[in-house]
Amino acid sequence: MNNKPIGIFDSGIGGLTVAKAIKEALPNERIIYFGDTAHLPYGDKSKESIRAYSKRITGFLLSKGCKAIVIACNTASAHAYSELRKFYPKVPIINVVNPTVNYCAEKFDAGKVAVMATKGTIKSRIYPRKIKKKNPALEVPQVAAPLLVPMIEEGYFNNNISQTIINSYLSAKNLQDIQALILGCTHYPLIKSEVEHFFQGDVEVIDSASVVAEFTKKVLKKEGLEADKPEGKDQFIVSDYTSSFEETSKLFFGKSVHLVEERIWD
Ligand code: DGL
Repeated sequence: MNNKPIGIFDSGIGGLTVAKAIKEALPNERIIYFGDTAHLPYGDKSKESIRAYSKRITGFLLSKGCKAIVIACNTASAHAYSELRKFYPKVPIINVVNPTVNYCAEKFDAGKVAVMATKGTIKSRIYPRKIKKKNPALEVPQVAAPLLVPMIEEGYFNNNISQTIINSYLSAKNLQDIQALILGCTHYPLIKSEVEHFFQGDVEVIDSASVVAEFTKKVLKKEGLEADKPEGKDQFIVSDYTSSFEETSKLFFGKSVHLVEERIWD
């Protein structure tokens, strides 16, 4: 048993979709969430920058007493996970890619499982590489959707314009005849219904938040780190505060959150 908090981080507030799923799956757990809004978006930053940001944020969360770290960002999972594991070998570190890869490789025997994500995640080819390693019979076409993160961060979804942008990405030729689509960015659960609307129920749309929450539960259990009761308040920290982030956070987390600014780069 261990009642210390779980540290969760993302480039911004999109990772709150993962934090929400973790709170639902693990109601006894306390979380400290860090959104690196000063450096958002990570999707078009270099690997080197993302590694440096992720290391600094993990160090910060560990200094706050976190017992485990969840990288609630696909781009940081793609670029910084191995590095963080090497740098902090004693801390359980969970990324959002591996649990989703395992889910797909086990669920689909053959056919096409596509991935839509930021430029950084698509360029890393982390999903095709890992899925094909586990199940070579699967094809993994990819589509980069750079407009979606800023659009969602602005609270811009479930309207005609967002549906048009989403439709245009999903009309890519290589996405024809797919069986499933991985929403490879933690911002995308907010547009899941618009993606499902495009496919009219013919394609399974996989949102990694719940898969990752279940995986986090397993890891805490295996490591004997589960909390036995809810203790203390959750904290939500950003590296650059604006009131619009606080507004949008509600949509991601499902209820109001109070964002506190910590300028950990200064
Ligand atoms: N939420 C992050 C992800 O899952 C990306 C957002 C960004 O580009 O900063 O990839």
